[in-house]
Amino acid sequence: MSDLKLGDIAPDFTADTSEGKISFHEFLGDSWGILFSHPADYTPVCTTELGAAANYAEEFKKRDVKVLALSVDGVKSHKDWIKDINETQNTTVNFPIIADEDKKVSDLYGMIHPKADSTLTVRSVFVIAPDKSIKMTLTYPASTGRNFEELLRVIDSLQLTAYNKVATPANWKHGDDVVISPSVSNEEADKMFPKGYTTVKPYLRTTAQPELKK
Ligand code: BEZ
Repeated sequence: MSDLKLGDIAPDFTADTSEGKISFHEFLGDSWGILFSHPADYTPVCTTELGAAANYAEEFKKRDVKVLALSVDGVKSHKDWIKDINETQNTTVNFPIIADEDKKVSDLYGMIHPKADSTLTVRSVFVIAPDKSIKMTLTYPASTGRNFEELLRVIDSLQLTAYNKVATPANWKHGDDVVISPSVSNEEADKMFPKGYTTVKPYLRTTAQPELKK
């Protein structure tokens, strides 16, 4: 099984999708990306997840995130299923779904966990930065749908911390105070955070969320 780690380059691939053939790195371009797998077409949780992802299209666009889904069924099945998703989830699926019938991409990304299910993928998520490095992974079982608010929250944290020497504390959400990275000395922090910061402990310094830089 593939053993991709944070910081690894997301493997490139070509695949048939509901919107034609794509080459992954070319599809991502200079944007952030999210690649997420679904156990199978015409299943209830997957139907709600793909509908949720489509309903967050504007939020992904604001953050410059390209969305790419995957399931191990074929293109015809995906296209027919999308009609059901649009109808039942009151949306328009506006991103490609990979038709991974030969499980090439699922295997490349370790999305099949044989002890959970030997043929279907689990619910994997890979968040990929513009330099194509993997910044976040998560794995849920087939029985648990993912929380797209949480994915957006993580993307906000990843984008903020990629360009500022800060980290985001427990339950942080966009606009909340952040913590200053331990690698930043107090002298550097004085210059970096001119509006000031609070020293709760020498290792725990909080400051207002900086503006998102890109
Ligand atoms: C679902 O998407 O509802 C689902 C898929 C596979 C197993 C269990 C649930």
